[in-house]
Amino acid sequence: MTGPLVARNLGFAFPGEDAPLFAGINLEVKRGEVVAVVGLSGSGKTTLCYCLSGIIPLIREGCMTGEVFLDEISTRELTLPQVATRLGIVFQNPDTQLFFPRVADEIAFGPENLCLPPEEIEQRIGRGLEKVGMEDFRARNPHHLSGGQKQLIALAAVLSLDPEILIFDEAMSQLDEEGRGRIKELILALKGEGRAIVMVEHNPANLDVADRVMLLKDAELAEMDRDEDLYERL
Ligand SMILES: Nc1ncnc2c1ncn2[C@@H]1O[C@H](COP(=O)(O)OP(=O)(O)OP(=O)(O)O)[C@@H](O)[C@H]1O
Ligand SMILES: [Mg+2]
Repeated sequence: MTGPLVARNLGFAFPGEDAPLFAGINLEVKRGEVVAVVGLSGSGKTTLCYCLSGIIPLIREGCMTGEVFLDEISTRELTLPQVATRLGIVFQNPDTQLFFPRVADEIAFGPENLCLPPEEIEQRIGRGLEKVGMEDFRARNPHHLSGGQKQLIALAAVLSLDPEILIFDEAMSQLDEEGRGRIKELILALKGEGRAIVMVEHNPANLDVADRVMLLKDAELAEMDRDEDLYERL
């Protein structure tokens, strides 16, 4: 049996562009595995996250070649709600992910769309906030929070859907050291629960939670030797 997240010969080119941003990417993320993706700014890490999460081709335009399989089903054959119960993505910029004037409503949105009973939704709000250490922010307006706090709320909202695959696109970029420590612990706990995790990272200090580190460079994704100096390879 293959892992819950598989990319086969994956490539992508923006509309009107001849040269692909990346091509021929093969990746399998197993249950309980954390795969980090590193690369220079503009190398295509976020676009790769969009392809792995079904946003491309389901929402965004462009020419995606190859396939991404979630639980062995191609994203081309899934609807967005079907993707959302399997996979959660925390975006690089949390502002693109937060819509509601109240933190609790933000986190309830996903479970409400699954038509879960109100008590279950309440529990998920509480559990999600507890996991990211934001219990006291329940009634606050997410848009009035700091960048790091917004990242934590976006993460709690994603966790409330209980997805088995998680993609973090620089989800720690705006957090202080305490916040980063908490998220790294959370990533390890999610790994322990058997979830498949992809984390895009620019901070080498955060790579210790990853089982494998992949470098996106010159349109290709290659596994790095853990002893290699990241800055030399970039
Ligand atoms: N809609 C678009 N049309 C054409 N080019 C685009 C479009 N969106 C992004 N790009 C370009 O694609 C490249 C990859 O962008 P992407 O955001 O995936 O990189 P990234 O590795 O995530 O960068 P960062 O580390 O800064 O987040 C960049 O050169 C960007 O300018
Ligand atoms: Mg990016």
